[in-house]
Amino acid sequence: MTKKTFKKHVTCIGAGYVGGPTMAVIAAKCPDIKVAVVDVNASRIAAWESDDLPIYEPGLLDMVKKARGRNLFFSTDIDAAIRTADILFVSVNTPTKTFGEGAGKAPDLQYWEKTARNIVKASQSDKIIVEKSTLPVRTAHAMERILNANNKGIHFEVASNPEFLAEGSAVKDLLDPDRVLIGTQETPTGLAARKELVDLYAHWVDRNDIITSNVWSAELSKLAANAFLAQRISSINSMSALCEKTEADVAEVGYAIGKDSRIGSKFLSASVGFGGSCFKKDILNLVYLCEHYGLSEVAHYWEYVVKINDYQMTRFVRGMIHAMFNTIAKKRIAVLGFAFKANTGDTRESPAIYVTKKLLEEQAHVVISDPKALANAKIDLADCRGEIEYERDPYVAVRGAHAIAVCTEWEEYKKLDYKRIFKSMEKPAFIFDGRNVLDHRRLHEIGFSVFPVGKRPLTHY
Ligand code: NAD
Ligand code: UGA
Repeated sequence: MTKKTFKKHVTCIGAGYVGGPTMAVIAAKCPDIKVAVVDVNASRIAAWESDDLPIYEPGLLDMVKKARGRNLFFSTDIDAAIRTADILFVSVNTPTKTFGEGAGKAPDLQYWEKTARNIVKASQSDKIIVEKSTLPVRTAHAMERILNANNKGIHFEVASNPEFLAEGSAVKDLLDPDRVLIGTQETPTGLAARKELVDLYAHWVDRNDIITSNVWSAELSKLAANAFLAQRISSINSMSALCEKTEADVAEVGYAIGKDSRIGSKFLSASVGFGGSCFKKDILNLVYLCEHYGLSEVAHYWEYVVKINDYQMTRFVRGMIHAMFNTIAKKRIAVLGFAFKANTGDTRESPAIYVTKKLLEEQAHVVISDPKALANAKIDLADCRGEIEYERDPYVAVRGAHAIAVCTEWEEYKKLDYKRIFKSMEKPAFIFDGRNVLDHRRLHEIGFSVFPVGKRPLTHY
């Protein structure tokens, strides 16, 4: 197809959890726009071109199949896709730095900067560059300097359009977002870019839900949103520790406080801890920024959200060991769920990684089961020593086990035949429900000793 067939050309650099689904939705909703998704990772691109997509998201395959080859294209030819783009989204990874200055906190911007230099090299015309990746405040300024230092007379307008989708519900979140945030400079070229981006999203998002702001507010809003969300989880998890000491029930406390419309009911489920590629990374990014600006009290405040999360995961494993008579060496333990949340195969920063490693340190025999995340689990645990098995079928995973640890809230775990499971396990049989998703009373009636999070354990001794 020639460029003339389409009204606009949109390119996204980075075909990951954000780039792939976001572009699939843009392609689905804007048939007059050609959307190209490019990546350095050839196997990832090949997977996007197949029916075995590189990521699992409900509804994504259908959406990709409808647009692929029509106005949605995947490729490794990054330069060509840069050249033809009017609007260039950059959605490369921005992991926490593991080396040098800021190691362990600051984001590693090497992929982002490399992309910027690529854009300068391959471009032949003016473009709008959209920060989709989550970045420290004022990154757009640095990028604009790199991009506009070109000697080709090309103008690059950098906008920030952070992504708020959650994994497992990415398609739904993209189709019906709470808001779309577009940050631009308030110059004539900045305002023109703002209009282009608003018009793009207005193909399917109500204009009232498309918020515009200055670039720095948009960049900071993304970090702030993740920090506030994670803070709620750490807050309820801190309450879960107190509930376990006082016989208060964290679900009842969460329900009671969530009824206050000022607090709201979402994101108040106590758990083994939050995981995912972004909460920890983005809070540490925020902490680093605050430290950079000399705001040490603010930095400490947010750092504690991560510390409470670490504490929660530690508490969960300690609770297991303690309940199982202070020794789990050689005991078979089934970890049900390895993904960091349900409906995704993503295991980045999954609490299950921490739990498994700690169980292995105690010389337990760990059997991992998960409907979508076993391939990633094998990669995550590749360097671990000890007895590990991977088993898709939960009934096989639990056979002969002393304990089950539920680490992901997969719907299928609620529907298992726990009478059958109980019969096949060693006795006493323990269930540690790290997601509070099972019917604890019924499990207790069957014969299990049940240890939820933030609730009184139901034991048989
Ligand atoms: P990802 O690791 O799944 O995907 C990033 C992709 O970028 C990879 O496929 C990688 O090969 C590619 N890439 C890296 N350098 C490149 C280069 N120079 N040229 C071309 N491709 C390159 O990451 P992700 O989860 O999609 O996250 C991307 C960004 O979006 C991050 O900043 C993240 O914080 C943010 N974010 C993620 C989520 C989420 O749910 N995962 C949600 C909102 C925002
Ligand atoms: C999160 C945010 O929700 C998105 O808005 C954001 O775009 C994204 O991070 C990002 O920037 O990457 P995500 O990590 O995909 O999305 O998933 P969440 O639903 O936020 O869950 C994160 C973790 O918190 C999971 O481990 C989940 O199980 C846990 N969680 C969530 C709880 O323990 N309790 C809750 O009440 C809610």
